[in-house]
Amino acid sequence: MEHHTFNKRVAIVTGAGQGIGLGIAMNLLNSGYAVALFDLNREALDAAISAAGSQAEYLMACTVDVTQSAQVRDAIAQVSARWKTPDVLVNNAGLTRDKRIPKMSEEEWDLVLDVNLKSQFLCVREVVQGMIEQGHGRIINISSRAWLGGFGQANYSAAKGGVISLTRTLAIELAKHGITANAIAPGAIDTPILAPLSTEQIDRIKSTIPVGRLGRPQDIAYAVKMFASPESSYMTGQTIYVCGGRSLSSPSV
Ligand SMILES: NC(=O)c1ccc[n+]([C@@H]2O[C@H](COP(=O)([O-])OP(=O)(O)OC[C@H]3O[C@@H](n4cnc5c(N)ncnc54)[C@H](O)[C@@H]3O)[C@@H](O)[C@H]2O)c1
Repeated sequence: MEHHTFNKRVAIVTGAGQGIGLGIAMNLLNSGYAVALFDLNREALDAAISAAGSQAEYLMACTVDVTQSAQVRDAIAQVSARWKTPDVLVNNAGLTRDKRIPKMSEEEWDLVLDVNLKSQFLCVREVVQGMIEQGHGRIINISSRAWLGGFGQANYSAAKGGVISLTRTLAIELAKHGITANAIAPGAIDTPILAPLSTEQIDRIKSTIPVGRLGRPQDIAYAVKMFASPESSYMTGQTIYVCGGRSLSSPSV
């Protein structure tokens, strides 16, 4: 089959239109991967492709809602047909809808669980058969330091905790096929997801970060690249915090 001649490692990154996902995708591209960018936001995808200039040949933009199994199936089939079975899946798409429990609607609960957690199950389910057949794969799931619990974040915290449990189970099920699954728990990273927070809230967060600054998308991309490497075959089921030490500090500081 002609696809066997494709000589780059192939990665899928979800939620890759902006923020952390875009940072991860560009870092993988610059490291020699062909990268499929999955996002709901077509305009953001188009902007990402134009910004890549001559390297855009190895980017593929897929407008997909990762909570919808049929859309996920079609998009992953397109990637395999154009390049080959993916070597790496980065489940990054996510969003927040913060409210205290008494005010949180069922819709806000469901949306946050679907985008942050169910989407990871759907994407893994679609790529994993191909990864099993090729005998290797890297699954990297973006959780959050907020899985530890956060005021107004019952939905988000539960979803991100679920990501860690899902990752541990994937690691157990898939190890014998040469597939690893690991999670990354970012702290506060400077992306549009922080837009709802006031300057005072951001300053308060910064004061709890031992490194003394917000994180950047490339801080997360570096950890993704490590887990994605073929050399990284003996780390599985792990969650690594990339949070400037914030997970070590007291929340009451
Ligand atoms: N920024 C932070 O401080 C922070 C901290 C911890 C964890 N995270 C996690 O990192 C990931 C990326 O966050 P970010 O800060 O870059 O967010 P962001 O809002 O900047 O980007 C998220 C991207 O996901 C896309 N997306 C949302 N729903 C989607 C869907 N149903 N299907 C496809 N794409 C969808 C959006 O269009 C957007 O491009 C999320 O999982 C988030 O929970 C972020």
